[in-house]
Amino acid sequence: MTHEALKALLDGMTLEEKAGQLTQCNAGQFISVDAEITGPEGQPLPAEELNRVLGSVLTFENAGQARQLQDLHLAADRNRIPLLLMVDVIHGMKTTYPIPLAMGCSFDDGLMAECAAMACREAAAAGVHVTFNPMVDTARDARWGRILETCSEEPLINSRMGAALVRTTQGDDLADPEHIACCVKHYAAYGAAEAGRDYNTVEISERALRESYLPAYRACLDAGARLIMPSFNSLNGIPSVANKWLMNTVLHDEWGFRGVVISDYDAVGELVTHGVAADMKEAVCLAMAAGCDIDMVKCAYYQYLPELVREGRVPEKALDDAVMRVLELKNELGLFENPYHGADEETEKRLNLCPAHREIARRAAEESAVLLKNDGVLPLKKDIRKLALIGPFAEEKRLNGFWSRPGAEKYTVTLPEGIRDLMPELELTVVRGCGAELGDTDAGGLAEAEEAARNAEAVVLCLGEPEHDSGEGRSRTDVTLPGAQLALAEAVMKANPNTAVLLFNGRPLVLTELEKIAPAILEMWYPGTEAGHAAARLLWGNANPCGKLSVGLPRSTGQYPMPYNRTNTGRPKPQPDSGVFPFSSSYLDTPNLPLYSFGHGLSYTTFEYVKLTLDKKAIRKEDSLTVTVTVRNTGSMPGKEAVQLYLRDPVASVVRPVQQLIDYQKIRLEPGEKQDVVFTVTEKQLRFISFDCEEVSEPGVFELSTGHADHLKLTDRFTLEA
Ligand code: BGC
Repeated sequence: MTHEALKALLDGMTLEEKAGQLTQCNAGQFISVDAEITGPEGQPLPAEELNRVLGSVLTFENAGQARQLQDLHLAADRNRIPLLLMVDVIHGMKTTYPIPLAMGCSFDDGLMAECAAMACREAAAAGVHVTFNPMVDTARDARWGRILETCSEEPLINSRMGAALVRTTQGDDLADPEHIACCVKHYAAYGAAEAGRDYNTVEISERALRESYLPAYRACLDAGARLIMPSFNSLNGIPSVANKWLMNTVLHDEWGFRGVVISDYDAVGELVTHGVAADMKEAVCLAMAAGCDIDMVKCAYYQYLPELVREGRVPEKALDDAVMRVLELKNELGLFENPYHGADEETEKRLNLCPAHREIARRAAEESAVLLKNDGVLPLKKDIRKLALIGPFAEEKRLNGFWSRPGAEKYTVTLPEGIRDLMPELELTVVRGCGAELGDTDAGGLAEAEEAARNAEAVVLCLGEPEHDSGEGRSRTDVTLPGAQLALAEAVMKANPNTAVLLFNGRPLVLTELEKIAPAILEMWYPGTEAGHAAARLLWGNANPCGKLSVGLPRSTGQYPMPYNRTNTGRPKPQPDSGVFPFSSSYLDTPNLPLYSFGHGLSYTTFEYVKLTLDKKAIRKEDSLTVTVTVRNTGSMPGKEAVQLYLRDPVASVVRPVQQLIDYQKIRLEPGEKQDVVFTVTEKQLRFISFDCEEVSEPGVFELSTGHADHLKLTDRFTLEA
């Protein structure tokens, strides 16, 4: 449709029809028309009436439902404006790949793009038009259960992975039925919820916001994301969905965003709960004034916008502009010509969980696993005959993590299945040992577990956190291993020291006690559909671990907040991990550094960082610096290594981080092979947010290092000239 045709369509719409375009309902409410929809004050709304004007729907499962929803609506809408269909396709539609936090640990933007492309193919075939993804909140606190939805504590990784996801998902032409639109979220700083309690208040300086929180959203919008979702939290006193500074000043005026803004689930209604609106009607006024186009599920726009416009409290122009943005998105997706977009049951059948997709999911699970510790137990010997698989996750099917689609566990390859596929001759004993629920102290299964461990040549101990304990609304104050798992680990390792621990969890866990007794720990996160195959291949060295932590693992929960890029302080400890040092910035009971730092991750091979060379000693603003890191595989297996480049700005007008990741590249090396990894550093990477909230660089000396956080190596210096 041309813009003129869209304009004519808009001009012919009633106020009720316009408000309908800005309203989103749950699919479940529409699949049967006699379903009752609840209005903003809990009053029933006749589904049939709303269906006539409704603009969009969220959360449905397949092409059949997508077509049914669209047909139902189009038959009722006199304007024949197709519905927009949206789903949270976060880490896969049917074929589930690892949780985003795990994907961050792959340090591989290309792998993220492959996974996103796979998810997009399946989602498009299911009839999805928009995914509520990527989620790029900077999250540094494992108490917050949603940390698993983000790739990293580091905005650079979130920016690059988020942008890769947006580009592959949206493609060059949204009308192409194989592509769908992206909604970046949760704008802004939702991950900074105070004390890690979900939905909690965020108080953060503009400087910190601009430096550590805003860049990733911006990167995804620059990559072309068509929609954005304001966050649930209040930010410096105003909930995001009504926060004019965030939405108008930054998003529209500064960044020039012209796409669609959609509230989070009921966030418009929650303006009343937050106490910044006296009632729903006022909530609608506030959200509209801040430029929120679509009201997700509350139906408050539907209920109140027409009368607010009639009363002159919301300008009709604001309503028209919002509706136009929605119509334009529908038009860009080609929905007026083809309202079903990619929805096709045959394609869906062919693609969902097909071997090619499972292969991508398996590879992603392998490449995002992080080998935290290995005293030589891994890889397991191929000639082991008797293996005990012990622990609450030994036979678990729910290894997909939050936001996997309902029923995803049906398709998960369990560990016993994966192991039997790879090692059919093996004698495998599977014992649960104990539960992993919070507060579950039952250790009744320990004797059986010990017995199994004693009778086996090697043990794989599967520990972690149940799938339902991380994700939205799942905050914890103590992020240690739940249940009697530590006791189980002690008993098993005493019975058989040839034990490797596999961890399945969605948030960083405190492993301080486990680390003391476990000879090997492999962090699998929630690996998704191919969990069992990936784990088996990693255990026997058919795949070589190559993940690096995209978030540090604490020694104790009390260390939070614990960013790897912490800033300089006065009275630093002489050695960050030395014992107690009087009147230094430290704790009496815990070292300062995490147990495992950001960027850490071992391999079955070894890599030598041979040298770091800079092509210049000084650059001017317009120059670039070529940094070469020479890396050699000194072990006996091929392996991948994420080569990381860190910056330190020793003197600046504001306090700077002790280390800052500014680039990374993942390489693969054969045994003995050496490679030069080339990075280009420009003045842009030296910038920071000044006290006056300007993005600036300041002349002076800078340090570049490789290695990983808290364990930097091969440092060299250069000067940015005035
Ligand atoms: C979450 C969003 C999600 C939305 C729709 C909300 O509860 O915060 O991340 O996209 O629901 O499912």
